[in-house]
Amino acid sequence: MSNIGSYEERLQGFDWSIAEQELGYTPGGRINIGWYCSDRICDLGLGQKHALLWEDAQGVAKKFTYDDLRCYSNSIAAFLQGLGIQPGERVCLFMDRVPELYIGFVAILKMGAVVQPLFSAFGDESLWTRLENAQTTAIVTQKKHLPKVRKIKDKLPYLKHIIVVDAPQTTLREGETSFNLDEAPKVDVFEVYPSTAETPSVLHYTSGTTGQPKGAQHVHYSIISQYLTAKWVLDLQADDIYWCNADPGWVTGTSYGIIGPWANGVTQAVLDSGFGTERWYAFIQKYRITVWYSAPTAIRLLMREGTEVARKYDLSSLRHLASVGEPLNAEAVIWSQEAYGLQFHDTFWQTETGCMVITNYPGMPIKPGSMGKPFPGITATVLNPRTFEPVNQVGMVGLIALRPGWPSMIRGYWNNPTGYANKFANGWYLCGDRASIDRDGYYWFVGRDDDVINTGGHLVGPFEIESALLEHPAVAESAAVAKPDPVNMEVVKAFITLKPGFEPSDDLELEIMNFIRKRLSPLAMPQEIEFSPGLPKTRSGKIMRRVLRAREFGEPVGDISTLMDE
Ligand code: WT7
Repeated sequence: MSNIGSYEERLQGFDWSIAEQELGYTPGGRINIGWYCSDRICDLGLGQKHALLWEDAQGVAKKFTYDDLRCYSNSIAAFLQGLGIQPGERVCLFMDRVPELYIGFVAILKMGAVVQPLFSAFGDESLWTRLENAQTTAIVTQKKHLPKVRKIKDKLPYLKHIIVVDAPQTTLREGETSFNLDEAPKVDVFEVYPSTAETPSVLHYTSGTTGQPKGAQHVHYSIISQYLTAKWVLDLQADDIYWCNADPGWVTGTSYGIIGPWANGVTQAVLDSGFGTERWYAFIQKYRITVWYSAPTAIRLLMREGTEVARKYDLSSLRHLASVGEPLNAEAVIWSQEAYGLQFHDTFWQTETGCMVITNYPGMPIKPGSMGKPFPGITATVLNPRTFEPVNQVGMVGLIALRPGWPSMIRGYWNNPTGYANKFANGWYLCGDRASIDRDGYYWFVGRDDDVINTGGHLVGPFEIESALLEHPAVAESAAVAKPDPVNMEVVKAFITLKPGFEPSDDLELEIMNFIRKRLSPLAMPQEIEFSPGLPKTRSGKIMRRVLRAREFGEPVGDISTLMDE
C-alpha cells in the first residue's frame, strides 16, 4: 500500500534529521516555511502541478499551480512590505477559506512576519482580545467581516493596516487598503526573509481554563515535524489529492491544511463552505479526493445520514482517512469501514504540539476507540497526577505527558511566560488530558484534565465566556461548563445568577445566547442556560465548575471538601 515503512521500522533509530535531510535543510542555515511550501516545490520541477483546487458554496471554482502559489505569495508579500510591515510584526488573517487566506499565509511567512490566523466566525470581542494581546499591526480581511474590525479598531493602538481583499478602494475608509489578487501583478522574484530555525512563524490562539486565550508561538523549524508527520501519518504521496476539513483559524488547518501538504508538494482541495453530507460526498467525487483528514463531529454527522447516502456517490478514490480533535468513538471507526471500506485513523495532538504526537500509524492494526501510539521521535507517557512520575501500569489512567524537544513544539505563549511554565512538571510537557496505555502500548483517551470545553473539536475556554456573560446587564455571576452532546461531544452550558430586578425567562435566555454568539462565536454560545439563585463555590469564593459539570454528565462530583457551606 504505502511507501513509508512500518511503524516498527520507523521507530528503529528514528531521528528528526531524516526530515532535515529530505528537505535539504542544514542545521544553522536558513529555513522559511513560505519558501518551502512554494519556491522549493517549483525548484523540484513541480511548478505546473496544482497546489490548490478551490471551490466555494456557490460552486465557484479556482485552481492554482505551485508556480501560481509562488508568484501570488510573492505579490502579497511585496504588497505587505510596501505598506511598511516589518519582519516579526504580527499580521492577522481574518477570512473565510478563500484562496487569499492560503496564499496570504505563505506570503506573510515569506516576508518574515508572524502570521496570526483567526477563525472568521469570531465576533468582535473574540477578535479584539486576540489582536490586542498580540499587538497585531495588520489584518487582512474580507468586506463581510470588515464591520467587526471597524467596531474595535479604535481600541487597538498597534493596528496600523486593514487590508481588504474583495472591496475596491473607493468603498473603503481611511486606514483601509484594498488588495485584489486577481488584479495583482504576479511577482516572479521576491527576496524571501532569511529566517532560521527559531524565527517566529505562526501565532495560534488557544483556550485554557484560566484567563483569556493564549497565543501559542510557533517557529519556522516546526516544518520539520509537520512535513514528516504529513508524509508518514497522512501517508501523502505524489499523486494524492488531499482534503483537510479544518479551517486555518485552528492549528489543524495550518499544520495539515497548509504546511504539511504543501511542504510535500501535494495537491490539496479546499471547500469554502459549511458541512453538508451530500455536498461533501459530491466534493470527494468531483475532485477524486484520495486522502481525507476530518474530525469526529463531522464523522458523527455523516454517520447519522447512514451508508445509503454514501453509496449514491463514487467515493472509490479515497485511499486513506484520518481524524483529529476529539475522541473518535469506536463505532465511528467501524462505521467508516462499512461506509467507505476504510477506517478512520485517529490522531491526537494540540495547538501547542504543532504536529501529531499520538497516531494510528498507517499499516498498524487499529484498535477502534484508541488514539494509537506515539509518533516515532515523540516520547510520551501518562503520569501520576500527584507525583508526576509515569504510572507504569497497564490501564492506569494518568496525565498525558511528552518529553519536550520535538521540532514543532511551541516556544512559548505570547507575553505569558507563567502560563507556559505551568505546562511543565518534572521535565515533562503536560497536555492537559488524561489517558491510559494498554499492554500493547496503545493510548486510550479519557478526558481533559481541566475545565476547557471541547465542542466539535474546538476548544472554548470557560473564562472567556464567563467574562463576556458578565458584560450582559442582567448577569451577576456565571459558570460555563461542558454538557454532553450526541454530535458535538460537548456543548457549552451556562449557569447564571441574575442581578436584582431581573427575572428568568425564555426571552432573556435567548437574548443572552445571542449576545455571546455575536461577541464571541457560534461555538462559544451556550446551548442551554440555567438560571440559578447561587453557584457552588469553594470557601475562597472560586466557582467550582467541576461540580456543575459532573452533574451534567451524571458523574460523581469527587472531592467537595472545600465547598462552601450554603
Ligand atoms: C485538544 C487540543 C490538534 C488538533 C485540533 C485541536 C483534544 C485532540 C484528540 C483525539 C481525543 C483529542 C484534546 C487536546 N483532542 N485530538 N484524537 N482524541 N481528544 O487542537 O484546539 O489545541 O485542542 O483537543 O483535549 O488536548 P487544540
